[in-house]
Amino acid sequence: MPFIHRRPAWAIDEKLATPEAVFLNRRTILAGMGIAAASAGLLPRKVLAESDPTADLYPAKPNDAYRLDRSLTPEEINANYNNFYEYGTYKEIAQEAQQLKTRPWQIEIGGMVAKPMTLEFDELVRKFPLETRLYRHRCVEAWSMTIPWSGFPLKSLVEAVEPQSSAKFVRFETFLDPDMAPGQNNFLYPWPYVEGLTIAEAMNELPLLVTGAYDKPLAKQFGAPIRLAVPWKYGFKSIKSIRKISFVAERPVGLWEAIQPSEYGFWANVNPQVPHPRWSQAQERVLHTGEIVPTLLFNGYGEQVAHLYKGMDPATLYM
Ligand code: MTE
Repeated sequence: MPFIHRRPAWAIDEKLATPEAVFLNRRTILAGMGIAAASAGLLPRKVLAESDPTADLYPAKPNDAYRLDRSLTPEEINANYNNFYEYGTYKEIAQEAQQLKTRPWQIEIGGMVAKPMTLEFDELVRKFPLETRLYRHRCVEAWSMTIPWSGFPLKSLVEAVEPQSSAKFVRFETFLDPDMAPGQNNFLYPWPYVEGLTIAEAMNELPLLVTGAYDKPLAKQFGAPIRLAVPWKYGFKSIKSIRKISFVAERPVGLWEAIQPSEYGFWANVNPQVPHPRWSQAQERVLHTGEIVPTLLFNGYGEQVAHLYKGMDPATLYM
């Protein structure tokens, strides 16, 4: 694959690329960052690569429009540092998340659409051509990763179901099954996990319905079998393990907004100028290098999305 010399707005300095010595020494780095438990709990590769009825779909064709001249977060690090509250409120949920049963997995797509569909994930994933995109992922907690996601554009699905003009938002919902996800017994959270986008956001080129990562079907802790990646928004918008997609007139209230609306808003666009009420969003820690780098407006994807928010108060971009 040719190396991309063009430096798009979202490209990060080459000096941030991880030298091989750092890769080799990643356990030490993890420990140094105070997350020794993550390295202690590293999953064997066979758990991540377990046999899957969609394995033949990977690696998916790279889409060279979405590349980064920055090193990718090594799979072992990403796969052992996750937010998936259905399996615990800490980062080392990878083993717990293996309880997630991803078959059968029915997905219901409906609401204000001309062509609703309810189908098995294995059928849905073969309806649209899969592609691989390298995306940045910026958590509201001020850390970031760089991930090779595979999937298909949300836009393709929206077009397929033909939303009615009354539909203004897309609402996404995760499964609800406390027996399979012990974290859902935690009554402090209003399960199931819900998130939403406006129709215009959903029709943007960037949101990806992710079905794979690192050239294979999605590992359970990443939100198998299908999750969202919305790279210009804080990570909590990228809902995992989606069961239901509804086209609605009312703005959906996400799980985090329901709990703490002053801290986690609907828009949640990455904005270094609008601090979280309890910490600055000006910088972020690159998870696999430990480096602190400036955070970019819209996580560097302004070219693709800034027009969606013209005329809005910059503070609203966050909220
Ligand atoms: N989706 C569900 N269902 N449950 C969750 O707890 N956490 C969110 C988001 N999607 C979450 C979720 C948050 S806060 C982030 S930062 C990302 O998933 C984390 O994705 P990752 O574990 O792949 O990095």
